[in-house]
Amino acid sequence: MKGQEWYQEHDVAERYEDKRFSGGGRLIDRREKEAVLDALGPVEGDRILEIACGTGRFTVLLAERGADVVGLDISGPMLGQGREKARAAGVDDTLEFLRGDAGRLPFPDDHFDAVLAMRFFHLADAPEAFLSEMKRVTTDAVVFDTFNRFSTRSIYNWALPMGSRLYSRSEVEDLLASADLQLRGAEHDWVLPYGFYRQLPGAVAKPFRVFDGAIGALPGGDHLASVSYWTAEIE
Ligand SMILES: C[S@@+](CC[C@H](N)C(=O)[O-])C[C@H]1O[C@@H](n2cnc3c(N)ncnc32)[C@H](O)[C@@H]1O
Repeated sequence: MKGQEWYQEHDVAERYEDKRFSGGGRLIDRREKEAVLDALGPVEGDRILEIACGTGRFTVLLAERGADVVGLDISGPMLGQGREKARAAGVDDTLEFLRGDAGRLPFPDDHFDAVLAMRFFHLADAPEAFLSEMKRVTTDAVVFDTFNRFSTRSIYNWALPMGSRLYSRSEVEDLLASADLQLRGAEHDWVLPYGFYRQLPGAVAKPFRVFDGAIGALPGGDHLASVSYWTAEIE
C-alpha cells in the first residue's frame, strides 16, 4: 500500500488540504465533491461509509446533507483533522470517524446503502481486495475515482514521492467484473492534471479550467481525461 506511513505524520495531515485544495486546487475540491454528490444523489437518511476518508472532506459534506455517515481511515492524524472539521461544521454528533484498515472493514455484510473511496485507489497495490470489501458491506452504490494511465497525469506521476497507480478504462472494467459489480456511470474529466492546477493561483486557474472543459467536451475528448469518477452497483 503506497503512502500508508506517509499519512501517519502529523505535519502531513495538517498540511494535506492546504497543499492540494487552496488556490487553483479549490476547483479540484469543488469538482470532486460535485462528482460524489452526483453519484450518490439525495443522501438524507442513507447509511454511507467513506473508506480512506482522510480529513473528512466528503464525510462532513455528506453529514451536512443528512446522511448517516461513517468515515474510516488508517491514519489517526488525518482523522484528527476530520474531527476538527466536523466540529467546525456542527456535525460532530451526527457522524462517526473510525480508525481502521479498508482491507478488513469492521462491519457486517450489507450494512450500508453506499460506500465511497476518493483518492484511494491510486495508492492500492491490490485494488481487488478493497473493492470486494466495499461491495461486501453495501447494498447499492460503490463510488471511487482513478487517475488515468493514458493521460497528462503520466507526465509527472513518476516524480511523486510515493508514485501512484494509474488505471486504464479496461482495467477498471475488469476490476468491476471480478468483484461482480456493474458499472452504473462514469465521468471523465481534467485534461490538464490536478498537479497543474495546484500550482496556480485561483484567478489564473479558472480560464485554464474553461479551456480544459472545452477540450474534454470535443468528440473523443473524454479519452484525454486524467481523472475518472466511477459509480458501480451490485449485479
Ligand atoms: C490521498 S488521501 C485521501 C483522503 C480523502 N479520501 C480525500 O479525498 O481527501 C489517502 C488516505 O488513505 C488512507 N489510507 C491508506 N491506506 C489505508 C488503508 N489500508 N485503510 C484505510 N485508509 C487508508 C490514508 O491514511 C489517507 O488518509
